[in-house]
Amino acid sequence: MKFFIDTANIDEIREALSMGMVDGVTTNPSLVAREGRDFEEIIRDICEIVDGPISAEVISVEAEGMVEEARRLAAIHKNIVVKIPMTVDGLKAVRILNGEDIKTNVTLVFSPLQALMAAKAGATYVSPFIGRLDDLSQDGLVLVEQIVDIYANYGYETEVIVASVRNPLHVLESARMGADIATIPFNVLARLAAHPMTDKGLQAFLNDWNNRNK
Ligand code: E4P
Repeated sequence: MKFFIDTANIDEIREALSMGMVDGVTTNPSLVAREGRDFEEIIRDICEIVDGPISAEVISVEAEGMVEEARRLAAIHKNIVVKIPMTVDGLKAVRILNGEDIKTNVTLVFSPLQALMAAKAGATYVSPFIGRLDDLSQDGLVLVEQIVDIYANYGYETEVIVASVRNPLHVLESARMGADIATIPFNVLARLAAHPMTDKGLQAFLNDWNNRNK
């Protein structure tokens, strides 16, 4: 399973890179706004340090505007993937961009049929937002399972990026279902690595070592 990091923060990306946990990066307008810096400057900075797909999202809501923005973003670097919202206009934009070999990540996906339509339009990636479904008492992981099944049934090459990841179980279950990628916020990434028994065991080893008969 590939791990993308879901952040626009360079320090977080550097730290995750040093752990060998960054196969790619996803950003969104909210994450970018948090940084208080120019959008394209942030994207360029990320491209300099990460050798993998980097999602940058359009702001336009009409197909024509999305396509224009997408062309500009894609020209920044070969690794740019343009994030397009899952709307009718978004599907139209994805179809055009697919014809121009510009990679797309269809975002804000909340149903399996939306994911099927995104694949049919030629999306490179699709991003089901599972944490936001959990927030509505609807099991987000069921959506991942349905998308993985549907894509396998018909051999779609669109890759599934599990998004809106809130906890380690989201990553575990997505991996068990065979999702291609999880895009993980930095705080969740740190929690994946941690286990109290590891800390306890390490402390015991160190205590025994320090108290050994020399
Ligand atoms: C994915 O690409 C999105 O940036 C992100 O996962 C959204 O997560 P949130 O629901 O925690 O905002």
